[in-house]
Amino acid sequence: MLNSKAQILIVTCFLSLFTSAEVDIEKVSQKVTDKFVEKQISKSTVLPPCQACKALVGSFSKGMERTARNKFDGGDAAWEEEKMKSYRNSEVRLVEIQEKLCTDLDKGEDQCHKLVEDAEQYIEDWWFNKQDTDLYEFLCIESLKRCCPSDHYGPECKPCPGYPDRVCSNNGRCKGNGTRKGNGACACDSGYTGSMCDSCADGYYQAYKDEKVVLCSSCHVSCQGACTQAGSKGCLACKVGYRMDAEHGCMDINECAIEDHGPCGSNQFCVNNDGSYSCLDCDRACNGCDGDGPDNCFSCAKGYFMNEQMCVDEAQYSRDRHVVFARYAVYGGLTIATCIIFQNSQKVAFGIGLAVALYIAASEHYISQSNQNAGPKLPMGDASM
Ligand SMILES: *[C@@H]1O[C@H](CO)[C@@H](O)[C@H](O)[C@H]1NC(C)=O
Repeated sequence: MLNSKAQILIVTCFLSLFTSAEVDIEKVSQKVTDKFVEKQISKSTVLPPCQACKALVGSFSKGMERTARNKFDGGDAAWEEEKMKSYRNSEVRLVEIQEKLCTDLDKGEDQCHKLVEDAEQYIEDWWFNKQDTDLYEFLCIESLKRCCPSDHYGPECKPCPGYPDRVCSNNGRCKGNGTRKGNGACACDSGYTGSMCDSCADGYYQAYKDEKVVLCSSCHVSCQGACTQAGSKGCLACKVGYRMDAEHGCMDINECAIEDHGPCGSNQFCVNNDGSYSCLDCDRACNGCDGDGPDNCFSCAKGYFMNEQMCVDEAQYSRDRHVVFARYAVYGGLTIATCIIFQNSQKVAFGIGLAVALYIAASEHYISQSNQNAGPKLPMGDASM
């Protein structure tokens, strides 16, 4: 038999397994519930009346596609053609379509089922008598009176302004278009204004006009408000950062050139851009500058000094010099050692000399390579021996 310690161990194992499994189940069931709730919400979504009818017609058309190749079962091949014909308009096919009607909708499934109940007589009437007409027109516009023909609006399906070929001057949408709602007013596209969307909005100019078409284009970026034509020449007034020039219209003001150092602080430099400028901090090696980097300083900051028109860190500079000095000292020492050995044994000295030469060549090559990568530093010949 197991002793009590082992029993406790096993029980603990089971308990921990159970609790971790429980967490997983909780997570999974949470996900399932989320999905379920989401589905219920989209199912119970209520669409506007016309859109709901349109959705029903869409679902019905899918049902017709689905059953397009079906036919009555049984019988022999000679009657195939006849069977297909009789199936096409049969009650059996209608029932097959209605069975899955609305179930394919992403949104408003519940509403769709309800609408099918209300519209049952019309759908049957269309199925048996009016299949040569458009289902949407028959059901949604004429029978249920939930929609209007395209470019018509409101309870009586009045034509939108500008109907038939210039609705809202083709520069906007007609409110209520295609539905029994809305007031038929024009909601203009950006750049257009007016009740018929035939004038240009503020910041736009008339680029083209004939009896049928008005086209507006956006004014140049330098314009403040209205303009008469394309480009900076067309501006009536200029935005801040631009000035009016008699010949060229609105031109960028170079703020950086106005004062001595421009409008920026003493340890900054000025960069002009279109309509504005920016102030950027000088390199930390500088005390005043006219550009980025330690090579554009007016004078050097504390702890730096000018070396070949560039401000260099004093401490870094002397460190570098020490390193260079140490390197050449090592080379010198090695050379002297070789000479001393030479007096005793030419053979050995020859070997050591070769090794020293190789060492110097290799380390110089390595240093020049890493200097190239690290950018300009101390010139090597500069070190005094
Ligand atoms: C009205 O709606 C139809 C589609 O239903 C669309 O083709 C037409 O461009 C719309 N017209 C306006 C002015 O909104």
